Amino acid sequence: MTNPVPPSAETILVVPVYSQLANLAFALRREVFMREQGVSHADEYDDKDKDCTHLVTVREGEVVATLRILWLPEHAKIGRFAVRQSLRNQRVGSRLFAATLELIRQNGGEHIGLEAQVDRIAFYERFGFHAYGEEYLDAGILHRRMKNY
Ligand SMILES: CC(C)(COP(=O)(O)OP(=O)(O)OC[C@H]1O[C@@H](n2cnc3c(N)ncnc32)[C@H](O)[C@@H]1OP(=O)(O)O)[C@@H](O)C(=O)NCCC(=O)NCCS
Repeated sequence: MTNPVPPSAETILVVPVYSQLANLAFALRREVFMREQGVSHADEYDDKDKDCTHLVTVREGEVVATLRILWLPEHAKIGRFAVRQSLRNQRVGSRLFAATLELIRQNGGEHIGLEAQVDRIAFYERFGFHAYGEEYLDAGILHRRMKNY
């Protein structure tokens, strides 16, 4: 496993939805969800981005990871979590996810939920989430709901 850039060279930022960095995050989402996973444009784009908090990981001036938080009444919902393919399995995703949990807690959010692709469930379990309910297809990919409460 190569790790050419140390974690200290990484910056995790909250970015406004109408910004250059958010646009780079949306480009990364298209790369990962549409081109890599075959999700349709209609399934990747919804009208919720403008209501979400967007986080990005910047490395050497490029957005290499992103996710969004949707503040629902029942919980803060984490979604659209993507790491550039060439940088996976180097903890980029774990660091962004941990920073996101911290941000939600700082904002008074105790209850956090997400919809996990079933082969990602173990990742979220390491952060204290547990799956519940039936498996279902979303954008042609098997998912299960998870929460930390
Ligand atoms: C899911 C995703 C965001 C995770 O990002 P990532 O940067 O690869 O995550 P991490 O490196 O922190 O962890 C990934 C795995 O590598 C393992 N890993 C990380 N560093 C490691 C190391 N140094 N040695 C061995 N294993 C390591 C982790 O334990 C983890 O194992 P898991 O597959 O059981 O979860 C990324 O795979 C991705 O973008 N996938 C495509 C989009 C997607 O599926 N999004 C989530 C939908 S629910």
